[in-house]
Amino acid sequence: MSTTVSSASGHAPVISPAERRQRRARLMSALGERAVAVVRASGHRIRNRDAEYAFRQDSDFLYLTGFNEADAVAVLLPGRPEGEFVLFCLDKNPAMERWTGIRAGVEGAQAQYGADQAFPVSELDRRMPELLKGRDEVHCHLGISPEHDRQVIGWLNTLRQQARSGVNPPSRLVLLERLLHEQRLIKSEAEIAMMQHAATTSARAHTRAMASCRPGQLEYEIEAVLLGEFRCDGMEPAYTSIVGGGENACILHYVTNRSVLKAGELLLIDAAGEHDGYASDITRTFPVNGRFSPEQRVLYQLVLDAQKAAIAAAIPGNHWNQPHEAAVRVLVSGLVALGLLQGEVDELVRDPEPVAGEDKPQEAAYRQFYMHRTGHWLGLDVHDVGDYKVNGAWRTLEPGMVLTVEPGLYVSPADNVDPRWWNIGIRIEDDVLITADGNRVLTAGVVKEIAAIEALMQADAA
Ligand code: GLY
Ligand code: MN
Ligand code: MN
Repeated sequence: MSTTVSSASGHAPVISPAERRQRRARLMSALGERAVAVVRASGHRIRNRDAEYAFRQDSDFLYLTGFNEADAVAVLLPGRPEGEFVLFCLDKNPAMERWTGIRAGVEGAQAQYGADQAFPVSELDRRMPELLKGRDEVHCHLGISPEHDRQVIGWLNTLRQQARSGVNPPSRLVLLERLLHEQRLIKSEAEIAMMQHAATTSARAHTRAMASCRPGQLEYEIEAVLLGEFRCDGMEPAYTSIVGGGENACILHYVTNRSVLKAGELLLIDAAGEHDGYASDITRTFPVNGRFSPEQRVLYQLVLDAQKAAIAAAIPGNHWNQPHEAAVRVLVSGLVALGLLQGEVDELVRDPEPVAGEDKPQEAAYRQFYMHRTGHWLGLDVHDVGDYKVNGAWRTLEPGMVLTVEPGLYVSPADNVDPRWWNIGIRIEDDVLITADGNRVLTAGVVKEIAAIEALMQADAA
């Protein structure tokens, strides 16, 4: 199976085999010759009875191999004379391939994917103990697939049984994330091109959804516009789309998408595509009938100001939490000015000190309206890998990191405020690349200013 991407335009970016080779070489140089990495592909998962969910490759495996088949295992063995990159995969089987699709097989694994050696995955348990001999550390996924965990322990036990012939099994199991996820955190030029492509298509999908929205439509009709745009560029949705009107916009993970959209309500859409595994993640919020009410307008402008302050703080040298702190300060100041919060801004932005003996720490009052954080890393996973704190301190932002910036406000009837604010749910989310001199918003292709949203929606209605 080839990972070559062909798009309608024919210009979709790809990750080259040479880049994947460099990634493996980089990981192996960090591992050293006493260590080995074992990276497992995803399996197929049953959706119901014998129907499967769409296959999605494990992101670590995809990053290192580009191999898009299930039931494979990559083994990286730094310094091994017979070959450092060993790929176990499904063997060719014309009868099976007629039903489930063409497989690369062991020959394709070498010829197309650069494996130094390839073996049928049915030989994994027989060959792995031999490959692990003489290594001290095994870097692998743990706690994700019980079957994989059991298999790794099984290989170690096989080696233990050879102790009296002088074989020492590896003495340490190390989570793959320690080295590999740090590597994935900084994106290469090619990865940035992949993410820009996903972001551009996703921004266009939001623009079309915004322009086509009319009162009386169902939320899933708008979802169909978005999904259609992703698929026209060969993309999958990067996550389940949230298309929530009115009170549904206040449910953070609303994915039912079956309600009627009414004039006077806001519609919150959190949806984006992924290009050959690389995700975008965009949220826009706009009035169903194309014009913001006074309450919607003032809260929307507040979230937009908070988002701009957070983006301005997403620059190299700042730490991870600075965009969040900037957003919270703007939101809290605005909520105090509107009378939705009472007190001093400097106090209100902080969570109260924990009280000894209390099970559940008190939370800052603003969290009734803004209960999530301002972003996350973005890459092959929509909530991408990489630590947010290093040695107990927030991580410093560096060029090549990509994060989302997504403040919001959600006011529900459960909040003790004037009913005119109820059922206003707003989030504005962009994808931001940290650059040497600041940042670049990858998702600038879809408007977010109030005037621009109203102009777009009215132009289309005319
Ligand atoms: N769409 C998932 C998120 O915004 O985190
Ligand atoms: Mn997000
Ligand atoms: Mn999102």
